[in-house]
Amino acid sequence: MTTPIKHLPASREWAGPAPEQELFQSYSKAEYKDRTNLHYEQPPEFFFSILGGEWQIYSCNLWERATDDTASQEEKMDLFARLLDLKPGMRILDVGCGWGGPLVYLCKTYGVTGVGLNLSPTQRQVAQQRAADYGVDAQIYECNWEDFRDDQGFDAVYTDEAIVHFTNLGEFFGKVHALLRPGGRMVNKECHFTSRRYNQHLTRANVHNYEIFGLTGGYRTLADELTLVDQNNFEVQTIHQIDLEHYRRTADSWLRNMYQHRERLQQIVGAKYYRQFRAYLKLVRRTFSGTKMTLDMVVAHKI
Ligand SMILES: C[S@@+](CC[C@H](N)C(=O)[O-])C[C@H]1O[C@@H](n2cnc3c(N)ncnc32)[C@H](O)[C@@H]1O
Repeated sequence: MTTPIKHLPASREWAGPAPEQELFQSYSKAEYKDRTNLHYEQPPEFFFSILGGEWQIYSCNLWERATDDTASQEEKMDLFARLLDLKPGMRILDVGCGWGGPLVYLCKTYGVTGVGLNLSPTQRQVAQQRAADYGVDAQIYECNWEDFRDDQGFDAVYTDEAIVHFTNLGEFFGKVHALLRPGGRMVNKECHFTSRRYNQHLTRANVHNYEIFGLTGGYRTLADELTLVDQNNFEVQTIHQIDLEHYRRTADSWLRNMYQHRERLQQIVGAKYYRQFRAYLKLVRRTFSGTKMTLDMVVAHKI
């Protein structure tokens, strides 16, 4: 007969986040960049082995018809194209463009030209090379959106699971408003807490995941995001909610890929980071099996 564990030792009990682990910390731009790059400057091979597919997209993909990573990435980007109402010749901006897969796919498939922003020199270099390899007109800048200047204007601006990092989301929407041409569209895809109480009472799992991303930004509720969209002179056109089954399938695929490449990945990033990242993916899988989050694409027009 096994002895039941009655109590965890006091030191293991969760007393809530420390002050520096609360969401929406304020940092200098330099510190913010260093913190996000703790994650995004890990070697591309590490991420690419996990994300899989031709476009190596680091966000939830769609599995309505897709049966493999590439098809699921393209199915998601085709939805972006519909919601952005892309037409050949348009000029678009991807803020938080990762390794450029999403932007290059849209340029190649829909005949648009693009600009992508991210904060990681490695991501920028990989994304610019990808644009060259596919022969598309896309410029990638290592640039915080707060510092981005442009005098041509964009027909559409989008983000895919990037605004979670942004501390000043209202200012971001104001910036997008200024960058868009009259009538231009903005589409933001992001996860949202289903109640504000979840970002005020973080769990140990929340904090583990938040630490993986250098404790930048934080999840909001959809209501809070919509308020900021409205306050910055956008008219909401559609809210497209994505069934969480798509995140579970995306996370399952990432976990499978990770396990398949486990020996090489541990060589690249070390056993400790490998374990932390695997725990993160398992927590993502669990989060999207509960009722604490939704995944939404907010489509808005510049007024
Ligand atoms: C989770 S990744 C998403 C990448 C891409 N959208 C995708 O789906 O594959 C977040 C991206 O946001 C970028 N990022 C974070 N904060 C940023 C900021 N303030 N300005 C520009 N890019 C930022 C990171 O460098 C990273 O490329």
